Amino acid sequence: MERLCFPIDAPPVFAGASWHIGWEGEEPACYCAWKAVDHDGVVGFLYRGGVLPAYRGHGLQREMIRLRETEMRQRSIAVSVTYTDADGAASMHSLIAEGYRPYAPTPTTTLSGLGRLGRVGFVHWRKDL
Ligand SMILES: CC(C)(COP(=O)(O)OP(=O)(O)OC[C@H]1O[C@@H](n2cnc3c(N)ncnc32)[C@H](O)[C@@H]1OP(=O)(O)O)[C@@H](O)C(=O)NCCC(=O)NCCS
Repeated sequence: MERLCFPIDAPPVFAGASWHIGWEGEEPACYCAWKAVDHDGVVGFLYRGGVLPAYRGHGLQREMIRLRETEMRQRSIAVSVTYTDADGAASMHSLIAEGYRPYAPTPTTTLSGLGRLGRVGFVHWRKDL
């Protein structure tokens, strides 16, 4: 699923994140992950998410955002963060609709790596839960 949704990205790190798969019967349709990270305090990071092409356009990404927020709240995490590619229009739609707003990352709050700080290409998002 990762290869289908992110064909040119480096593989994700599986350890340390909470992963989910959404099924249509016996067929996997979507998947997502989140993990707790330290950003001047612990926040929840929407780490990975993909909907297989045949299942897009039905609000699954938004549902997966809400699922992970519920798990963050259960762990008393008060802030959810993530980042998107600057041209990730579908993800941005979903994040804005779920109440996320952009923030300017600093060395302690960047999610895309220090080397990418200040470079065009990524948008960071945050929501108070
Ligand atoms: C991004 C992704 C998860 C969205 O899956 P989805 O839940 O099916 O999302 P939708 O197709 O319903 O799109 C979500 C919203 O973006 C809009 N949208 C979709 N494609 C768009 C585009 N090319 N331009 C502008 N808006 C777009 C939809 O209309 C929808 O808005 P709405 O809720 O107001 O109707 C899926 O496309 C995917 O897996 N892509 C590859 C991997 C990826 O980019 N993951 C996210 C990393 S941040």
